[in-house]
Amino acid sequence: MDSIHQQIQVAFRYPLHFTTGVFDPANPLLGRVIGDDADRSPAPVVFVVDRGLLPGHPDIVAAIERYCEAHREVVALAAPVLLVPGGEAVKNDWHHVADIHRLIHRGALCRHSYVIGVGGGAVLDVVGFAAATAHRGIRLIRIPTTVLSQDDSAVGVKNGINGYGKKNFLGTFATPWAVINDSSFLPTLHDRDWRGGISEAIKAALIRDPDFFDFIERHAAALKARDLPLMEEVVRRSAVLHLTHIAQGGDPFEQGSSRPLDYGHWSAHKLEALTDYRMRHGEAVGIGIALDTTYAQLTGALGEPEWRRVIDVLQAAGLAIYTPELSEHLDDPDDPRGVLSGLAEFREHLGGELTILLLNGIGRPFDCHDIDTAMMILSIEVLRRRTAADSLRA
Ligand SMILES: NC(=O)c1ccc[n+]([C@@H]2O[C@H](COP(=O)([O-])OP(=O)(O)OC[C@H]3O[C@@H](n4cnc5c(N)ncnc54)[C@H](O)[C@@H]3O)[C@@H](O)[C@H]2O)c1
Ligand SMILES: [Zn+2]
Repeated sequence: MDSIHQQIQVAFRYPLHFTTGVFDPANPLLGRVIGDDADRSPAPVVFVVDRGLLPGHPDIVAAIERYCEAHREVVALAAPVLLVPGGEAVKNDWHHVADIHRLIHRGALCRHSYVIGVGGGAVLDVVGFAAATAHRGIRLIRIPTTVLSQDDSAVGVKNGINGYGKKNFLGTFATPWAVINDSSFLPTLHDRDWRGGISEAIKAALIRDPDFFDFIERHAAALKARDLPLMEEVVRRSAVLHLTHIAQGGDPFEQGSSRPLDYGHWSAHKLEALTDYRMRHGEAVGIGIALDTTYAQLTGALGEPEWRRVIDVLQAAGLAIYTPELSEHLDDPDDPRGVLSGLAEFREHLGGELTILLLNGIGRPFDCHDIDTAMMILSIEVLRRRTAADSLRA
């Protein structure tokens, strides 16, 4: 027997830029991001744009074309801008990945060319997957346009699409070339998508940053009322927490069994599937946070006052803490129609031992490997009763 143990260390670097009016020809940022690093000038570029942007930004395709024309020394539009459906529908249909691959093929892109995704987290997940798999990886620039994608999904290293009823069944870990957060996209979001992204910021604050939790708590009502400067602050702080975790958490490509950034996500992913994706990811995460926080309180890990603060901040930000699907098919924990089967699916997605993050306090997480399903069912019931009482008062 003879063995050689190979070890490879690769450092990944990517910038997160903040701007407004990214496609204004007078805004040099995107041209610089490409121009500074292009091995070929002008660099071939293709754009994939979330169709859901069109009602609020009807001019976006023309604006992209104008931008490329104004910066033609560095950017060469290699194919017409591709519009894809927004929302989870785009992750549920493999054909969109194929369409983006075809675009990359037609544009004759190479690994030194750029794929630029503009849209919500769902579109960016699909674009990232296509870019990571064509030629085994083409430079990807993400321009996220929702709160959730700006404060969480687009700043990270994951992409993917859904398959066999499972969230993110197909996907890769791949770092972007750059991320550009443009807050001028946010005012056109529907209320649901504006608020949904707050849940990921609350999640990051709960596991990493009690001061940030205080900040969100203080401003929850103004955030719900769509205060843009406050939201910009929330996006920035949440994005930094996500970036820091990925860079310093010791497991950027999630090879272990613990997934702290997915607090509240085992039930959230399942709820999205159970509602045929009518429930948005961010909305489901709000409920998932409420559920695991309640479980921690009922099992004695978390104090009642802290539990109350978490539930109150979710509700003050306009997020639901319960949906009837939570209470269905709970008799058998393996029934795929019930939320409890989300525990096994969560474990399967990551591999290894079941690891659910819970809270001892705000900013004090711990790993739990054994969930008591009777207690989880009781937690669901607590949230159901609280929501019923709220609606009676309303
Ligand atoms: N890769 C990751 O690490 C990661 C992390 C968290 C979430 N996600 C994924 O992100 C997705 C959710 O992303 P999301 O919350 O951005 O929702 P989304 O992408 O589903 O978009 C929601 C809706 O907003 C529309 N939209 C986008 N930008 C808009 C704008 N500026 N104005 C008006 N409408 C706009 C879209 O067309 C869509 O209809 C889920 O699929 C989730 O699994 C991925
Ligand atoms: Zn999430």
